[in-house]
Amino acid sequence: MKQFSIEPVTPLIGAEVSGVDLSRLDDDHALVIKNALLDRLVLFFRDQDLSIKDQIALGRRFGKLHVHPAGRDIMPHEEGLPPEIFCVFADANTTRAAGDKWHTDISCDLKPPAISILKMDLLPSLGGDTLFSNMYAAYEALSDPMKEMLGGLTATHDGGPNYRDRAKRGGLDPSDRKYPRHSHPVVRTHPETRRKALFVNATFTTHIDGIPEDESRALLEFLFQHTAKAMFQCRFRWKPNSVAMWDNRCAMHYAVWDYHPEVRSGRRVTIEGDRPF
Ligand code: SIN
Repeated sequence: MKQFSIEPVTPLIGAEVSGVDLSRLDDDHALVIKNALLDRLVLFFRDQDLSIKDQIALGRRFGKLHVHPAGRDIMPHEEGLPPEIFCVFADANTTRAAGDKWHTDISCDLKPPAISILKMDLLPSLGGDTLFSNMYAAYEALSDPMKEMLGGLTATHDGGPNYRDRAKRGGLDPSDRKYPRHSHPVVRTHPETRRKALFVNATFTTHIDGIPEDESRALLEFLFQHTAKAMFQCRFRWKPNSVAMWDNRCAMHYAVWDYHPEVRSGRRVTIEGDRPF
């Protein structure tokens, strides 16, 4: 392998990792990468010519692979791919690109995914960047009274609105479809670092539990704006064969759909997580 290096992207989040071939990761490098991910929340790799098999093997080094709960008929997919592969795809016919709003992956699951590993294959001539935001830093920037109040709250994360909208756009009747819907703490403790992070997002979090609707709306609106502040973020400009690995337990992301009608295509493996506490 070439010289292995990890270069931070901003003071708060992200690192570019070079000198590593993710298709031939040994145990020592896997451990260094895991520790770097816990420290930097999202890692970026260039020139990774990973086959589907390589990407699945890479994901399995970090845990059990997750299968998306929404069903292939409503998500972009390629026939013949294993169920653990989640396709990211938008082209001229797309009416809503996946991930084009702040979210952590599938936070509506009872045990939302821990880590995601996305490799991009086709990119638009310009645009299609992904933004990441540090949810530890967003939590730590709050005042003590706000931290105390949020610390006692849970919020509902509902896959229904998001996935039913997708089903409708695909010409399917979503009325009898069931999607995950679960309550999680508004402030979660990362199971490995033990640090506290905000855990609400504009894609899945529909309301704060047990308080009036107007209070819930105002509080969520504040939290969505707060967690999206520029100082908590980094932004990744993809190239073909770039890979990003992020920790959904402490980072949100936003895939900017600014390239319509051009094509953007990649595939993700997602590693199962724990029930947030
Ligand atoms: C996602 O996993 O949410 C998609 C991210 C991206 O397309 O950059």
